[in-house]
Amino acid sequence: MKNKLIVANWKANPESIREAKEIFSPIKRAAAKLNQVEVVICPPAVWLAELVKGARNWNGGVALGSLKATPPFRVRLSFGGQDAFWELIGAYTGQLGPTMIRNAGATYLIIGHSETRALGDTDNLIKAKVRLALKHGLKVILCVGEKARDEHGKYLQILRGQIESALTGVPRTQAKQIILAYEPIWAIGAQAKGADTPAAFLEQSIFLRKVLTGIIGREMALDCSILYGGSVDADNAAGFLDEGGANGLLVGRVSLSPESFIKILKIANSI
Ligand code: PGA
Repeated sequence: MKNKLIVANWKANPESIREAKEIFSPIKRAAAKLNQVEVVICPPAVWLAELVKGARNWNGGVALGSLKATPPFRVRLSFGGQDAFWELIGAYTGQLGPTMIRNAGATYLIIGHSETRALGDTDNLIKAKVRLALKHGLKVILCVGEKARDEHGKYLQILRGQIESALTGVPRTQAKQIILAYEPIWAIGAQAKGADTPAAFLEQSIFLRKVLTGIIGREMALDCSILYGGSVDADNAAGFLDEGGANGLLVGRVSLSPESFIKILKIANSI
């Protein structure tokens, strides 16, 4: 069975590398004891290289993020970026290309998070970002989710549209680098009314896998990890992983609290 993927999305936190290390150190120690879980830390890009340096020895001493570092060992701890530009380099003030993120040590990249969509990421931009990141060897965590869930199931067409637009035409050889994160927008963040239910997640994930099947084929779609995100905490994590059948979790706020995040890791490791 594949390792569960527990992704920490730190968003724009914390303010200093000292604080970043304080959050990261206990998580790194806990990750070393896991055998069923891959932990993916997605810090702000400015802290990435320094945290990666501190983690090197935990993955068999092989430099993370290197394309040559196909692990003969079980990876327990990886890094990800939270977004990247749709060009590699050039005159784009303020932007970071996916190979910059990769060369700083990330193997994963979150794309299409609802917060970047809200700041102007359109389906077309997301598609361009996904293409470029996949082409350059990153594993893409594509986020999809609806603003509101209507009882007639119209929101399902929104999810379908987000996936089809981002992934149609992806070369088969790159399809295995795709991870899907289902994050209903109404369940994300401190203002949310709370997490989705494991039963509802299970239903959505069956639908999402069907949509994926139409794009990347049955075999790849069955193999694709589908994560749940939105108000995940130590109390609801087991439900999503067990009853909900999630292949992993995308954790926001709670990933900044090492104590609670480590609880989630241990739960995931035991399921
Ligand atoms: P949350 O965020 O866990 O704080 O709800 C999840 C996310 O935005 O990925």
